Amino acid sequence: METKKCNQDKPEWQYDEMKLCGVKFDRDECADKYDEHHQNFRDYKKEADERIKLLSLDRNSTIIDMGCGTGAFAINAAAYFRKIYAADVSNAMIKLTRKKAKEAGIDNIEFHHGGFLTYKHNDESVDGIVSTLALHHLPDFWKQIALTRLIKMLKPGGKYLLFDIVFSFDITNYESCVQEYINTMVSRLGEVLRQELETHFRQEYSTFDWVMEGMLERAGFDIKKADYMEGFFANYVCEKKAE
Ligand SMILES: C[S@@+](CC[C@H](N)C(=O)[O-])C[C@H]1O[C@@H](n2cnc3c(N)ncnc32)[C@H](O)[C@@H]1O
Repeated sequence: METKKCNQDKPEWQYDEMKLCGVKFDRDECADKYDEHHQNFRDYKKEADERIKLLSLDRNSTIIDMGCGTGAFAINAAAYFRKIYAADVSNAMIKLTRKKAKEAGIDNIEFHHGGFLTYKHNDESVDGIVSTLALHHLPDFWKQIALTRLIKMLKPGGKYLLFDIVFSFDITNYESCVQEYINTMVSRLGEVLRQELETHFRQEYSTFDWVMEGMLERAGFDIKKADYMEGFFANYVCEKKAE
């Protein structure tokens, strides 16, 4: 199945999500190292199993994996759903997910070169949406637009699982908190990730817990569960309110 391209026609003022901020996931050399780095500290299968459980959907369900990357969720979840729409702005990342799908004989992932602001969902609305470590690539204004677009692709009562870097640490001590976070993560994950972590603060758009909650609610989501970990990570289980 070929990767479907989203129509990129847009007004001059539209944020260009194809020009990735921060870590250059659109470059092969960066995408190729992604799994090697991330699998040092992540268990993709375990993560996917947890999300599948939270979604609690049957095998006839459809899911959007927005910002699918190298398929951490899509590849491990494909057997549990009828169809997964895997979208990403990076062709380099999609290429790797597609390769894994082919090797595993998975044929129910539909690939889309498009993102939060450009992916157009042309089929019937989905039962669930997952996005992991992707939304922080957009500035807050565009995050709100992204969430407003996503919720329209979801059935009433459908779930949105959002995991991302979201700030709940004491901002008055931001210098020591951020430095300590980077040092802790480097000691856990290795020096190889220092640059990625520093780039995150310098050039990407993670936001505050209270901003993220406000945006999810304003988009029309009911936040069923919000877990904040270590002052820097957040896991949200949201539901689209019934119409
Ligand atoms: C840190 S990776 C996470 C990938 C994957 N979800 C995972 O759990 O490993 C961030 C991904 O978000 C993608 N991305 C960045 N901006 C995006 C956007 N506006 N819309 C969709 N995906 C985006 C990047 O190309 C990259 O694949």
